[in-house]
Amino acid sequence: MEAEKYNLDTNHPPTLFVGRNYIFLPETTSTNATLKSLYAKSSLPEGTVLITSYQTEGRGQAGTTWESEKDTNIMLSVLLYPKFIAVADQFMISKAMALAVHDLVSTLLPDTEVNIKWPNDILVSGKKICGILIENGLKANAIEYCICGIGININQWFEDQTRTSLKTITGVEYDLEYLEKQLFSCIEARYLKLKQNPAAISKDYLDVLYGFGKKSKFRIPITDENFEGTICGINTDGRLMIKTAEGVKIFGLKEVSLIS
Ligand code: BTN
Repeated sequence: MEAEKYNLDTNHPPTLFVGRNYIFLPETTSTNATLKSLYAKSSLPEGTVLITSYQTEGRGQAGTTWESEKDTNIMLSVLLYPKFIAVADQFMISKAMALAVHDLVSTLLPDTEVNIKWPNDILVSGKKICGILIENGLKANAIEYCICGIGININQWFEDQTRTSLKTITGVEYDLEYLEKQLFSCIEARYLKLKQNPAAISKDYLDVLYGFGKKSKFRIPITDENFEGTICGINTDGRLMIKTAEGVKIFGLKEVSLIS
């Protein structure tokens, strides 16, 4: 049976800079790594996007890998020059990029719960649909460049309990190129918002943060300790704040996981 195509509004406005310089490689190691080496060799305009159909060494957060079927999902990296963000506030970029993907996915799935799971995973009904890997280049205590790598599961079929894709949810086959352009608009809008009104980005992030304000069970993997608490905020350095009976505890990446 031929899959139905998802029909999107074709009249969305073009972007000012995100995706204006567009590099497509049928295959590469990792779009983040390749964009970083291109940046080191030549001057690239802000908003340059590198897209691929297949990564041989896709990277995830904290040294993990990102695997994605060929020609099936979105895998891209965007180059940004967020000079207006202080190094101490760099997690703001992560919030803005997660919101950009959240905007795209929630528009496509208007009747489904879409959340950001700290730090920047996108979940649909509790299952991961997108991972984001942000790599900032720092120089003289400033952010010289930011490479924002985004992997969104679109047409791959998932049976497992932890991951999902648009097609797994709706049964519809999506046009990758078209969704990529929609994503460029979402990224640009959130990036410009970050420049004008960072407080609004922080508010929007907490509004859709998975588990925010809800009593939940957590686990500390290194000690195998479980505890109860409520996510109550994010530090300026991007660490997760959890209110417990003993006070507010603060965790970095991979130091804690939300069980339920
Ligand atoms: C994670 O959830 O651990 C982050 C995954 C990020 C994957 C994307 S795919 C495009 C870009 N290139 C990479 O090598 N990684 C990111």
